[in-house]
Amino acid sequence: MEQKVVNIIGFNGASLAIYSDILLSLGFEGVLNIFKNDDREAGVEYDMGLEYRIFMIDEIPAGLQGEFLICSNNPHTKYFLLDIFKKYIPGLENRLMTLAHPNAYVGRKCELHSGVVIEPGVTVSAYVNLRKGVFIGRGATIGHHNDIDEFSTVNPGATLTGNIKIGEYVQIGPGTTVVSRTTIGSKTVIGAGSVVTKDIPAGVIAYGNPCKVIRENDIWK
Ligand SMILES: CC(C)(COP(=O)(O)OP(=O)(O)OC[C@H]1O[C@@H](n2cnc3c(N)ncnc32)[C@H](O)[C@@H]1OP(=O)(O)O)[C@@H](O)C(=O)NCCC(=O)NCCS
Repeated sequence: MEQKVVNIIGFNGASLAIYSDILLSLGFEGVLNIFKNDDREAGVEYDMGLEYRIFMIDEIPAGLQGEFLICSNNPHTKYFLLDIFKKYIPGLENRLMTLAHPNAYVGRKCELHSGVVIEPGVTVSAYVNLRKGVFIGRGATIGHHNDIDEFSTVNPGATLTGNIKIGEYVQIGPGTTVVSRTTIGSKTVIGAGSVVTKDIPAGVIAYGNPCKVIRENDIWK
């Protein structure tokens, strides 16, 4: 990969560690521009292995080139960061970088839209649609004919079997299993270690085995 710049919006240590690891695994030798929207500590407390520069949101140069990563895996934070930064960066939603670790398997006839990030050890079976800004955490298994809508996150170690439809801004907890032919509505959070055996509606927090709706997901109100 030739020397280049990757622009990162927002500041989150965990996501920076994940992104720098994937970029280095792909042979990236460029620089990270990190754009912050708040005054959290500017320093990155560990060695990311990549050169980086930190800017405040009002320092974004006009006509900034290159691709962008949203520095969070939390769907609500992804929404919040995009909403703020798109006022400063024209066409931001269509300039998101698609990033898959070399140690991830993606089957045939899959669609990976802009902003999809896939961690190591992930298996994506055939005929899977990962829409804009979807994040798949390490070791997750995404079965055949699944459709995951925009800005949803599948956390590490989750298993989605086949023919599942997941809405926008959904968070699937780590280690969760979702059984075939189920649907999960937009803006829902499925708690860690759940087993989803039936459809789960939009806008709720649900967890357990079998997974049950616990309450509304108030964060979107
Ligand atoms: C879904 C979640 C947000 C629910 O949080 P919450 O409703 O605020 O849960 P609380 O901590 O108030 O716990 C309420 C009760 O539910 C239980 N509970 C919480 N999460 C549970 C889960 N995932 N499965 C089963 N029981 C759960 C608690 O043990 C507690 O039981 P008690 O009343 O008998 O003591 C959280 O549990 C979760 O799973 N978070 C994962 C977040 C995530 O994915 N992070 C990314 C990591 S990579």
